[in-house]
Parts: sequence; structure tokens; C-alpha cells
Amino acid sequence: EKGPYAHYMMKEMDEQPGAIRRLLAEYVDEDGRVSIPEDVRAAAREADRIYIVACGTSYHAGLVGKQLLESVAGIKAEAHVASEFLYNPPLLSERPLFVFISQSGETADSRGVLVRIRELGHKTLTITNVPGSTLSREADYTLHTFAGPEIAVASTKAYTTQIGVLAVFACDCARARGVEVAFDVARELSLAANAMEVVINEKEKMESLVWEYLSSSRNCFFIGRAMDYYICLEGALKLKEVSYIQAEGFAGGELKHGTIALIEEGTPVVAVSTQRAVKHSIRSNAQEVIARGANVCMISIEGLEEAGDALVLPKVHEALAPLIAAVPLQFFAYYAALYRGCDVDKPRNLAKSVTVE
Ligand code: F6R
Repeated sequence: EKGPYAHYMMKEMDEQPGAIRRLLAEYVDEDGRVSIPEDVRAAAREADRIYIVACGTSYHAGLVGKQLLESVAGIKAEAHVASEFLYNPPLLSERPLFVFISQSGETADSRGVLVRIRELGHKTLTITNVPGSTLSREADYTLHTFAGPEIAVASTKAYTTQIGVLAVFACDCARARGVEVAFDVARELSLAANAMEVVINEKEKMESLVWEYLSSSRNCFFIGRAMDYYICLEGALKLKEVSYIQAEGFAGGELKHGTIALIEEGTPVVAVSTQRAVKHSIRSNAQEVIARGANVCMISIEGLEEAGDALVLPKVHEALAPLIAAVPLQFFAYYAALYRGCDVDKPRNLAKSVTVE
């Protein structure tokens, strides 16, 4: 039930800190350490490479997951769009583990890959919000995201909880392989949940930024580097699907290789800066578009902020920054849709679960 909310999307965005806390409680053992079931851990330990397969927003979570698996756990990982996988298959390693990410667990494109992978005899894990779903039943293992029912077509809390579970998975895989993790993921996830709450409480600020940057635009670009690039892909998808503003997410350095031609006086560009290693380069990308007239909405994080930034996010561990950086972009999409009179919870042409290939 929506309760006092006008839209499920707003309710579900608000539920995100609670959802992260819930999944954390589910995955923390008596010693206060995150842990996943032993059989899943064993499968991850035996794998020489992890192939993540998903669609849409879940694919965007998969990109973050791939990065976490490689940087935190030292496991080779790849993320693939399900609908492309069978037609453009990667060469597989000797002992692959397949990880399907799906809110609904019913997505036909992902299931098509799962069926094929099972025929090949490889191990499969589904990360889903619906444990009894098709993808969950058909895979060898399941990790539940514990987001609670997600009704709005645009995925919000399902996405952030997928990232939360992927962080838990990566840290547990690291431990299983004897790789030391430099941070306490249980503690950092709990701090990230608190930080998400702080951002969510800045609704008025986010709404006014939408008014300032997006109220009269027909397009919008999102730029970020490293992990922030993946957040930009998700921010652009969210904005497109609910507000119908044409939006694209780019790696900061790519814009000048073509798309910068579209920048005109007043074109909104949302730039995200949560990653220390690229803090200077993303700023110079922002300058490049400002010089062409772009209206840059800079979202940074404490410690990397500069005077004039549109929004400064509270500090969280850098590996978990996607959890918090995603939040304002979701709210941007929501308020932009509202201003434009769009059907926020049921965007045109979209279905909550896509059961045809
Ligand atoms: C976007 C969105 C879609 C889904 C995609 C995969 O907000 O909801 O892009 O993420 O259709 O769906 P699941 O995760 O159910 O496999």
C-alpha cells in the first residue's frame, strides 16, 4: 500500500535505507561479519571467473558488482547484457560461475541465458528480490536482496539492494579466497544506509535542482568516471524511463569523442564525483562542457567537494559510493516526471517484468 505517498516510486526510494539495513541483518553472522551460505561461497571459491548477466537497471548493478569483485576480492569478473549474451558470447573460462541479477526473477532475456548455461553444465547463482521466481528456482543458488515488494516500474530500492548484496558477496568471496578486505563491509553498509537517509531528507533541495537544471530541457547528459560512470548509466536510464527526457550516461572522457557536439547553451549535464582517483579528471570534463555553454549540476561527496557544487553527498566508503550517488539521480527522475505530468509509477510502453525476449 502507498499509504501517505502519492507514488510508489517515492515510497520505494524512501525505503532504501531500511532495505539496506534489512539485508545487512540477514547477511551478518553472530560475529558481526557478513556471510553468505556455505554452498554459494564454495562455488565462488572454485570459480576462476564470474560472469554477471542481467538487463536494464539490474545490469547497471552488475557493472558495480563486477568492479567490486575485481577490486575487493581479486576475482576476474565480467558483466553482460543478457539479450546480447547468446548472440555475441564471450569465450568462457574453465570454471565459470554465472551470476544472474534480476529484481523480478522472471526476465526472459536473462532466463534464456540461464537455460543455455545450465545445458553447458556451469554453476549458476541468481541474485533476486523474489526467491520463488523462475530464475531463482532454475539456478543452483539464490541470494535474496530483501528489498520488499517493488511496485513502481522504475527500479530503485531493488537496484540499491542488489548493490548491497553484491558488496556482501564480493567481501565474502574475498574472505573465502584468503584475500584481505581493507574495510568492514557490515559497518560500512550500515553507515551507507545512514548516509542514504541524510540524502533522502534533502528532497526539497533535490526538487529545486530539478527545477533549476531540468525543467525546460529536452535532453540531459550524465558524466562520471570509474564507478561513477556506472551510476551515470543508471541515472540516465531512470530519467529517460519516467520523465521521457532524452538522457545519456557517459564516461567523462568519452564525451569529447563525439557527443560534445550536442552541447549547446543551457544543456544540462549532471556530473558525479565520488571517486578520489578521478576527482581532477571529472572536474576538467565538467569544464570542457561548461566552456560550450552546458549547465553543469555537480554532485560530489564530502572530501571531494568544491565551492559551487550543486549537491555534496555525505561521506561513505568509496567502494559503496554507488549506493548513495544513485539516490539523488533517482529523485531527479522522479521530480522531472512530476513536473512534466508523467505517470511516474507506470511509464508508457514499459512493464514491470519483461517476460518476452
Ligand atoms: C528500470 C527497470 C528495468 C529492469 C529490467 C530488468 O528501472 O526496471 O530496466 O531493471 O527490465 O528487470 P529484472 O531486474 O526484473 O530482471
